[in-house]
Amino acid sequence: MTHIRKAVFPVAGMGTRFLPATKSVPKEMLPLVDRPLIQYAIDEAREAGIEEFIFVSAAGKGALEDYFDTAAALEMSLKSKGKTEALKALEPTRMPEGALTILRQGKALGLGHAVRQARRLIGDEAFAVLLPDDVIMGSKGVLAQMVEAHSQVGGHMVASMDVAREATSAYGVLDVAHQNGRVLTAHGMVEKPRPDVAPSTQAVVGRYILEASVFDRLADLGPGAGGELQLTDAINADAGKAGLSGYQFAGERFDCGSIQGFVQATAAFAMQRGDLADEFTAFIRSRQSAAKQAA
Ligand code: UTP
Repeated sequence: MTHIRKAVFPVAGMGTRFLPATKSVPKEMLPLVDRPLIQYAIDEAREAGIEEFIFVSAAGKGALEDYFDTAAALEMSLKSKGKTEALKALEPTRMPEGALTILRQGKALGLGHAVRQARRLIGDEAFAVLLPDDVIMGSKGVLAQMVEAHSQVGGHMVASMDVAREATSAYGVLDVAHQNGRVLTAHGMVEKPRPDVAPSTQAVVGRYILEASVFDRLADLGPGAGGELQLTDAINADAGKAGLSGYQFAGERFDCGSIQGFVQATAAFAMQRGDLADEFTAFIRSRQSAAKQAA
């Protein structure tokens, strides 16, 4: 049984869909209720047993680095004022010594290029990749679900979900060979296929467990869709040799890289929080009835 110890978090994207907010705030620091996106991804990785966290970052993302640093002055001030609840809220931002490494991508040449930066730190073991933009709500973290399944099947594994056929052109889509429970053995995947030629409706979302052999493919990868070095292309090129499966996770995925998805996630997370749910739900209902009356 392989133990997945390391995870890569590509956080070097420019987040242009969230301008002007992302002019000075990294997209991964935008808060869903009271925690930034990156915290959800880190919590999910911890739940899955990840011990080493590798950020592939870029210039202008200092707030992301500071977030996982100790804030001595803030902590002293909270302590002296007896604000124990506020101090407790900082706990998830603490990392064990040496557990976080931050790399720079240099140029935003695509997700494949971002993951490639981590080669020396990963070495020759299977590892996870989490895109913090994809936030998945559920009782068990998706990466933990995948780690369990991966220990049975090995190879490259991607998280997948069923989408409407009209939506395939927004995703990487799996070419499924056969299904066993939640595991879909795949021949490969196609980047953003038109609905009429999509090989299935199983869309890839931002959680991966990859064998280290993917780095050999990333090393000699040329530009793919959008002129970027695509992680999908490298996985695809290695699928025949290493094996590829989709894992149909349990949970609800929000695309927090888009404004619509981010707003929906904010509402969904607020509605499931005990301290906010009643008042917030009542507020949404009153807005709906006010809108109906005005129409
Ligand atoms: P996106 O495709 O969402 O791009 O990247 P983006 O730049 O973050 O956002 P928009 O489209 O301009 O609004 C998906 C993931 O891949 C990372 C991003 O940080 C995000 O986690 N990424 C993308 C990199 O780390 N480097 C890249 O060169 C491209």
